[in-house]
Amino acid sequence: MLEKTKKSVTAIAPCSTANLGPGYDVFGLALDALEDRVKITRSTEGAGISIRLIDNRDRIPLEPESNSAGRVVSKIARDFAIDDPLAVEIKKGVPAGYGVGSSAASAAAAALAMKAVYNLKIDKDSLVEYAAEGEIASAGTKHYDNVSASLLGGFVISSIAGGKRRFVRMEPPRDLYMVVAIPISMDVPKKKTELARSVLPKEVPLGKVVHNVSSASTIVAGFALRDVDMIARGIDDAIVEPARKILIPGYDGVKQGALGAGALAATISGAGPSVIAFLKTKRDSRRVAEAMRAGFSKVGVESRVLVCRPSTGARLA
Ligand code: HSE
Repeated sequence: MLEKTKKSVTAIAPCSTANLGPGYDVFGLALDALEDRVKITRSTEGAGISIRLIDNRDRIPLEPESNSAGRVVSKIARDFAIDDPLAVEIKKGVPAGYGVGSSAASAAAAALAMKAVYNLKIDKDSLVEYAAEGEIASAGTKHYDNVSASLLGGFVISSIAGGKRRFVRMEPPRDLYMVVAIPISMDVPKKKTELARSVLPKEVPLGKVVHNVSSASTIVAGFALRDVDMIARGIDDAIVEPARKILIPGYDGVKQGALGAGALAATISGAGPSVIAFLKTKRDSRRVAEAMRAGFSKVGVESRVLVCRPSTGARLA
């Protein structure tokens, strides 16, 4: 028997960047730039799960199985034999389709809110597993990098070593800053993540694999040693970035602009089309932001550029 403790709970989850270059589907970093809010209310009327979006500017689907928060709520409800009618209210702060973990933020907030409404005993790794269910709605498959970072905060490694999935959180260095350029005037395809995954090579030469293993290890070492320069040196990807950058107008100009203005590294944020730059101080962040904006505007694309730090992850309101 479930102990029903609350009628309504709101959870908030931040945006995130996935991959950090070589860590495709494995690395995620929560960002304190933007967040989604999900409120779940146990209702006494109606049946099933109803979804309402406040300011649905992104035209996100409202059917529970096609909505990232809805999918999570529905899976948890099924697994815990919850049959109350549930009202899910989503306030999107993270724009959908730009590679900053929008579906993940809604999914992470939904998982945390659902756990709190019913006081469910779900451990940390299982909660990430539930949140990843939401990614199927937008990406077609589960991937854990954005949801794990959004839920747990900081830098997260989604490990499948030893055949069991575990999420390893590392505290980012205090002097790590990011600049994210979101090309908001770009029309992103409906199933953008699916498309961005379809352009990736099915087979990769061993030399490139070695390059990326070395880069990814350097990033992990950088987080372990709290060394931003080392993290930035590892953001060097021989596999995914070269294949995907053709989907992002002006990508090389935006990246070179960021590096020229003082960023230590820059790469595609998640599946794109946003670009993220990494810095060691806030000092150069305005110049980097301007350079990235100028890079997009050179190809006629308007962008929203945000300076941010790592986020501590999802929380209850
Ligand atoms: N790792 C995923 C990808 C992130 O790059 O396709 C999608 O947000």
